[in-house]
Amino acid sequence: MQQFRRIDEVRNALEPFRAERRPIGLVPTMGALHRGHGTLIETARAQNDTVVVSIFVNPTQFGDTGDLDNYPRTLEADLELCRAIGVDMVFLPMVSDMYAEGEQTSVCVEPLGSDLIGRQRTGHFRGVTTVVSKLFNIVQPSRAYFGEKDFQQLGIIRRMVSDLFVPVEIVGVPTVRDADGLALSSRNARLDPAERAASVVLSKALMLGAALIEAGETEPEAVLSPMRAMIEAEPLADLKSLDIRSARHLDPVERIGEEPVVILVTAQFGSVLLIDQREARAS
Ligand code: PAJ
Repeated sequence: MQQFRRIDEVRNALEPFRAERRPIGLVPTMGALHRGHGTLIETARAQNDTVVVSIFVNPTQFGDTGDLDNYPRTLEADLELCRAIGVDMVFLPMVSDMYAEGEQTSVCVEPLGSDLIGRQRTGHFRGVTTVVSKLFNIVQPSRAYFGEKDFQQLGIIRRMVSDLFVPVEIVGVPTVRDADGLALSSRNARLDPAERAASVVLSKALMLGAALIEAGETEPEAVLSPMRAMIEAEPLADLKSLDIRSARHLDPVERIGEEPVVILVTAQFGSVLLIDQREARAS
């Protein structure tokens, strides 16, 4: 497995694959890799000749520097996981190379980027779309892999690629969960045991909401209100947002019909903000 820190080095190493039109799969990550990332990497491994994993804790998508400083960093274990799955190249760029002095360009997908999670984290998605654009231009992958766990992020990246005619196929990968239902996340490591036990309420509430929709409930509030009650009954959960949107474009939904919808939830447990989602449709 090759490792690169410099942009020109990873570009040069990929040049022969590009010349031979052999597919390159890119999995962008911020490290602290777990089985969720592992599933993205395995999917990329199965579909491409060459697999590149980028590990870059992107400063422009963090609101306050405390969150950035506290972001877990586990490089040796990350490299081990990549090696075990058969990754060809790991790209570990430096902040000073990714954001060179004097730069003025950013990519923003609006209004979707200021909606939902963007309402709570101003500028977050601009940071995501800017860094993902940079990674796409450096690696020039055939396909890039993103988790459905970050459903809005996936939707925003699909929108960006479609709007800007970026020649990359975006592949969405289903959420990987712990046995009790909690969606795997690098942030879970920061939950204390009581918060970890409480956090299962999110996937339980999502299951309840999906069951109501599958049973024929068409009124969004009639789905959201028992979900809200369930989460608010958990003393360690501080519910931040709960929404039902169309799964295709994340548009607001007045009545749940035949089109699939997605239920999106964010809640704070201690210092940790957890995000989860579940798609549902009337059966
Ligand atoms: P990060 O949080 O490291 O996640 C990298 C990718 O792994 C994302 O596409 C995310 O949706 C996916 N992922 C995380 N947990 C998952 C789970 N439990 N199941 C399936 N997929 C999961 O998301 C980012 O980094 C950054 O915003 C990034 C796209 C790298 C841009 O900086």
